[in-house]
Amino acid sequence: MSIFSIYFSPTGGVKKVMTTLEEEFKAALTQDSSKDTAQKEDTGSKLITIDLLKPDTDYASYHFTAKDVCLVGVPSFGGRVPDVVIERLKKMSANKAKAVAVVVYGNRHYDDTLLELKDVLEGIGFTVIAGITANAKHSIFKQYATLRPDAEDKTELKTFAGEILCKLYSLRNAAGIGVADSANADGSADGSADDSADGSADDSADGSSNTCAGDSITVPGNRPYREYPGHPLKPITNDYCVLCRACVKKCPTEAIPQDAPDTTIAEKCITCMRCIAACPFDARSLDKAAVAAAAEKMAPAFEGRKPNELFI
Ligand SMILES: Cc1cc2nc3c(=O)[nH]c(=O)nc-3n(C[C@H](O)[C@H](O)[C@H](O)COP(=O)(O)O)c2cc1C
Ligand code: SF4
Ligand code: SF4
Repeated sequence: MSIFSIYFSPTGGVKKVMTTLEEEFKAALTQDSSKDTAQKEDTGSKLITIDLLKPDTDYASYHFTAKDVCLVGVPSFGGRVPDVVIERLKKMSANKAKAVAVVVYGNRHYDDTLLELKDVLEGIGFTVIAGITANAKHSIFKQYATLRPDAEDKTELKTFAGEILCKLYSLRNAAGIGVADSANADGSADGSADDSADGSADDSADGSSNTCAGDSITVPGNRPYREYPGHPLKPITNDYCVLCRACVKKCPTEAIPQDAPDTTIAEKCITCMRCIAACPFDARSLDKAAVAAAAEKMAPAFEGRKPNELFI
């Protein structure tokens, strides 16, 4: 079995969540391989990271097998999966690999993001065995969820990872074969979309019950998905810009021209905030007054500490 951690993390929040989950999966792999050593077998178990930020990566070269487990992490942008992520995922071949859909959001709501991610993954042939929603600092409204994921979140995420591993092992035990072969164990890894997405939350969303159940899951969300035409604000550049092009290399959508790095191609920009975080001279930003006005208008939606959830 190989475990793949596949994610799109423009400003690092998704990466923090994924790294926390990875730790638990790595520990499980270590246990598995020490067992293998005792049995003098080499299954080649490993954890491989795939970065979805790179415009020049050949995503079509990724072919998974039914023996693989893929953790797929995306940020919620406007309650949806960013289009560029869908395009890149759709180039990959899942071949009935198992997937864990992970959505990270900034303490407002994830709306239809988890359902959309599950649909996309199933559409390309993954069997989605679990879903996670988790909170991280809002990359535009940085006053929300500022320190998340914090220690409490990380403990909870590790518990979620443990429950998912439990499900993987229970699938293996049900078939009386190795974890590596568990993708074939249930006979239902057909990549078909879940029909039960009626907008209702799964009863087991608190992760407290039925943790080693069958492989299909139900997640909250609605079809058609919420409309998200893209964020209206795009980065602007101030006089501190020295035309160093550090931002050009970081942009996941090639929205900053090589020959004019102090500009932004609005039609290509998804307002992911990566160039703003990457600029060493603090020369890029969104219009601060507009961000402050939007934050004030949306304040009620950000109230309270939003939960992390496991759907299994
Ligand atoms: C364009 C944009 C739209 C966003 N929309 C939402 C949203 O609808 N709900 C929410 O809770 N957080 C939203 N966020 C916050 C991100 O989901 C959150 O900050 C996430 O951690 C970003 O991932 P990253 O840190 O890996 O870049 C949005 C952020 C951006 C940049
Ligand atoms: S990283 Fe900053 S200073 Fe460098 S080109 Fe981009 S905006 Fe200008
Ligand atoms: S130009 Fe837009 S898409 Fe590119 S890194 Fe900056 S905010 Fe993200």
